[in-house]
Amino acid sequence: MGKLYESQKIAILYFSVAIILFGAQIIFGLLAAYQYINPNFLYGIMPFSIARMLHINAMVVWLLMGFIGSIYWILPYETGRDVVGAKLGKLAWFLLTVAVGIVVLVYILKQIGSGNTFTLWFITEGREYIEAPRWADIGIVLVMLIIYFNVAMTVLKSDKITGLMGVLLIDLVALAGLYVAGMFFTPNITKDQFWWWWVIHLWVEATWEVLVGVLMGWALMHVLGTPRKIIEGWLYLEVLLVFGTGILGLGHHYYWIGTPDYWLGIGGFFSSLEPIPLVAMVVHAVYDAGVHKLQTVNRPALFWILLQAFGNFFGAGVWGFMHTLPQINLYSHGTQMAASHGHLAFFGAYVATNIVFVYIILQHLRAPDGPVLDSKSWKIAYVGMILSMFGMVGALLVAGFAQTFLERAVGGATWQDYIMAQLHPWVKVPLKWRFGFGLLFFLSYLVLIYDLVTIGKKKPSTELKAG
Ligand code: HEM
Ligand code: HEM
Ligand SMILES: [Fe+2]
Repeated sequence: MGKLYESQKIAILYFSVAIILFGAQIIFGLLAAYQYINPNFLYGIMPFSIARMLHINAMVVWLLMGFIGSIYWILPYETGRDVVGAKLGKLAWFLLTVAVGIVVLVYILKQIGSGNTFTLWFITEGREYIEAPRWADIGIVLVMLIIYFNVAMTVLKSDKITGLMGVLLIDLVALAGLYVAGMFFTPNITKDQFWWWWVIHLWVEATWEVLVGVLMGWALMHVLGTPRKIIEGWLYLEVLLVFGTGILGLGHHYYWIGTPDYWLGIGGFFSSLEPIPLVAMVVHAVYDAGVHKLQTVNRPALFWILLQAFGNFFGAGVWGFMHTLPQINLYSHGTQMAASHGHLAFFGAYVATNIVFVYIILQHLRAPDGPVLDSKSWKIAYVGMILSMFGMVGALLVAGFAQTFLERAVGGATWQDYIMAQLHPWVKVPLKWRFGFGLLFFLSYLVLIYDLVTIGKKKPSTELKAG
């Protein structure tokens, strides 16, 4: 085993919880998908609304935990020293984990009731993806401050600030700051949605995207040995393009919520440019991998890096572009097309990033001086996850197209058209496929877990080919 900094031990703590929550996410997703087919299933015990909330909240929390873990992992490499507040960092991890546990228990135990100030503070804020009650919000902000303190102080106490760390420090301020925008309570639903999108959109299409730019840049450097100068040059360009298009791209969520008309033009224009930085990221990753002829010390990490680049481009860039123009979104808004895009984008851009780092950590723990980290099972999990994710996404796309066409364009978006579309075979049948592919995704997750436990433990079978 390679030497471990305290910072890296914290990273492992975060990843352990993250991977378990990934499993919880999939199980609640399967449950919600089954309830689409059989709505009475577990009605009154674990209804669709709660299963769905747990599915997407588990996702947000595990992805964030994975990002935090990755940051703690790279910190000693980038600063040449250990984290300043190791005990504080572990305490923050512990508090976050306990808080998540309490929030989930409350969701499960108190499923219905009136909405008032007490609910807002102690049960749920009711805002999709960030439903956590306000006490937990405040706790999360405190935990984020501890993490920020640790990263910033460690960088300041080292004798250099790398470009990667500079971008990271600025991005984390924006990422944490935006979370606060999701806490304003206003009875006006337009204003509520206006601010809510500041968290959701400006996270996934601006600050998270820049964060994974930093992480993937570091991973390419580590896994392939790409020179830092090239990595940082690309990163600055990506940051410029992501912020340049993504911030005003926010307008694509303001078309129909009661905001002024000018958002139609602003949102349509800037969000259509959002795929450009994602193309840049693909070019970068493919070029780097090509230069090294796919030779690496860590095969699963390299292949997940490539999947990240393509998944981000297709899921966010292509699937997002598909419905981002107001002329199209008028008909497609809120159909299964959004879910199709949401699944592929989150999987490609963010799940893949975290899996890359799990493998980088495992290599350090089990094969620090070679041989090449490789196994059969990572390939099965990799192919299984890609196939089942594309299966789910394809099924949802068919259902979404049918809804867009039948319910909105031909029908006229009345309640009756909605019901008609829900009963139409082009919508009903794909939602069954989605459940089937979901099961396959769960099996692939189990193979992934098997691989994470076993990879690199056996005697070397391949020789070290690249440094
Ligand atoms: C990794 C980056 C991205 C992620 C994770 C992501 C995820 C999502 C999710 C989950 C939704 C559904 C939100 C809801 O619950 O209502 C959504 C909606 C949407 N996304 Fe993205 N997205 C990303 C990037 C993009 C990009 C680059 C574009 C445009 C080129 C885009 C265009 C849209 C549009 C237009 C909607 C609204 C759909 C509707 O009107 O129903 N997204 N996105
Ligand atoms: C077994 C695999 C999965 C199944 C069966 C599944 C199923 C579901 C279901 C039924 C919903 C509710 C959709 C609705 O309200 O109409 C949902 C929402 C969502 N899931 Fe999954 N899911 C799975 C895996 C994933 C993964 C791996 C991710 C990404 C990391 C993900 C991200 C999301 C997101 C972002 C939403 C909200 C989308 C929206 O409202 O547009 N899911 N999923
Ligand atoms: Fe967006």
